[in-house]
Amino acid sequence: MSDFSSRLADTLETLRRIGSEFSPAVFASSLAAEDMVLTDLILRNKIAIGIFSLETGRLHKETLGMLDRIKETYDTEITLFKPEAAAVENYIAQNGLNAFYDSVEMRKECCRIRKVEPLNRALAGKKAWVTGQRRAQSATRTELAVQEDDAAHGMQKFNPLADWSEEDVWHYIRSNNVPYNPLHDKGYPSIGCEPCTRAIQPGEDVRAGRWWWENPESKECGLHVVDGKLVRIKQVV
Ligand code: ADX
Ligand code: SF4
Repeated sequence: MSDFSSRLADTLETLRRIGSEFSPAVFASSLAAEDMVLTDLILRNKIAIGIFSLETGRLHKETLGMLDRIKETYDTEITLFKPEAAAVENYIAQNGLNAFYDSVEMRKECCRIRKVEPLNRALAGKKAWVTGQRRAQSATRTELAVQEDDAAHGMQKFNPLADWSEEDVWHYIRSNNVPYNPLHDKGYPSIGCEPCTRAIQPGEDVRAGRWWWENPESKECGLHVVDGKLVRIKQVV
């Protein structure tokens, strides 16, 4: 078996194990390339893992368009979790619409309201959650394990693509005709909210276009961080 085939087989086995041993389990999809690989694997193989997206209210129209593409391709609707309207209104009234450019604190507060609080709602009552994070993605992810004990959320957290390369992701997408966000063809390897993501130049780090005005160490939105620490408390596998 090639290295890629064995990584793919391991990923599929991990997903099946999550579906059978950690029910109810959910997959957090940002609708970007890695997450489309996992979406395809889960839906094609009918694995019992629910799929949700955090619809922050600031996503690109191309990203939102993926919801329709998924519906057309797999006849499945992704569950959306949105921020509390009152919290968003207060933030904007007090700080302005784009205050996240002013300081890391303002940025984290916006991410807390638009992503972290809705994530907590999405994870309530679940036994495990799944992400599309990869080790090679950033300075903050080099220690990423396939299975982690996420004590902060009181459940297991799985990163089934932890050891996949970017090339693996695109190889899977192309060989399986998986729909993908058209922004990836326009210089966006990593896609978050529209005002906090820009295209990168050839040769730049894949996450260089995310919160590009901040230091690499602070570039996590809080989905994978609790009390300022990465939720990488205990490596299980
Ligand atoms: S982030 O933490 O910097 O925003 P990134 O975009 O690399 O994360 O995505 C890493 C993983 O976090 C994704 O594979 C996905 O599991 C989860 N994630 C990020 N953004 C969202 C979102 N809007 N909705 C659901 N899950 C998300
Ligand atoms: Fe707000 Fe930007 Fe975070 Fe989106 S990525 S929640 S717009 S600070």
